[in-house]
Amino acid sequence: MNTLDEYIRAAIQERKLQNTHRSLTVNPLLTDFASNDYLGFARNKSIHSLTHESSMVSLGGSGSRLITGNTFEYEELEKKIAQFHKAEASLIFNTGYMANIGLLQTIVQRGDTILYDELSHASIRDGIRLSFANAFAFAHNNIKELEKKLKVAKGKIIVVTESVYSMDGDVAPLLEIIKLCEKFKASLIVDEAHATGIYGKNGEGLVVELGIEQKVFARVVTFGKALGCHGAAVLGSQHLVDFLVNFSRSFIYTTALPHTSIIAIDRAYSELIESKNIMSQLHQKINYFKLHTQNISEKIIPSTSPVQALIIGHIEKTKQIAKRIREQGFLIKEILSPTVPKGTERIRICIHVFNTENEIQELANILNKELTLSEKATHA
Ligand SMILES: Cc1ncc(COP(=O)(O)O)c(C=O)c1O
Repeated sequence: MNTLDEYIRAAIQERKLQNTHRSLTVNPLLTDFASNDYLGFARNKSIHSLTHESSMVSLGGSGSRLITGNTFEYEELEKKIAQFHKAEASLIFNTGYMANIGLLQTIVQRGDTILYDELSHASIRDGIRLSFANAFAFAHNNIKELEKKLKVAKGKIIVVTESVYSMDGDVAPLLEIIKLCEKFKASLIVDEAHATGIYGKNGEGLVVELGIEQKVFARVVTFGKALGCHGAAVLGSQHLVDFLVNFSRSFIYTTALPHTSIIAIDRAYSELIESKNIMSQLHQKINYFKLHTQNISEKIIPSTSPVQALIIGHIEKTKQIAKRIREQGFLIKEILSPTVPKGTERIRICIHVFNTENEIQELANILNKELTLSEKATHA
């Protein structure tokens, strides 16, 4: 029997042998094509200055929401978020990870069924794991397979999908999924982490853009990506919120967000409402990137979102290409297995509203060159 220390050392060694060992790095100041700060809100001066002023009030959350952490501002913000996303109610969680586990763990019981897209985020999978429901993955965005699984599902049935996939950038066929959910009386949960601030007239998300908010059981929106802050909310009925306040462990047993976070999230939503052109500017930049990467478009997963995934399909090659791009001044990250399936290792490029056309063109030129070199090396 191995000791715990031997087990830990062996697991790390195995990662090293697989060439997938991860370590923390502090990113150098390069041109940002890697962060999820799609709208530049994390560097927005008006959000910053308000947050600074409010830090005079209190630095910590002081207790859980049910004890001393709740505030008038928290409740007002939840009303504002619900109204913005056209939901009946919303409940703030400290992170998107906690929102997903707190929602999925709580709403199902033994004998129920959760069907989830195979590329679902780790927080969705972990929430499912914490529940006692039967859970089955369906192939990514594959409606036929989802239907097959719905036909044999037992108990209360929940279907979980992201609207924009974080590592692929593609969107789920929500209209087809909702039709199936109606047919099989399943409840749909949509994680809108990467659609918030990106789709919908004012950034309400893909569900609102498609006008299906009344048909979706619950949505998860996060504030750490396009909103440039931190935290998340579950959107749904008032009953659902009441239920989560009573039963959701990742909501109940944790210190509330500090006042500064609430002020920042509130201001970020106001920015979304007030910055009328920011989303169209972002989509113009995304189109500009696509235009300049047409030659290698078959290697990029089709995506209208800021996330553009260039598939390399080989761990060492992906690492080397990413390193060379960084050496030329652009912050981009390689995404390796097990974060993505083996053989689909990729460069994840995030387009931001603040990336200039020159920067995008320069990055596109480097990518075009790298891919040509890589093809030549494969055929040599
Ligand atoms: C689809 C998706 N859901 C949830 C999360 C978790 O959100 P947070 O970073 O707020 O914990 C992420 C973050 O990477 C995500 O991509």
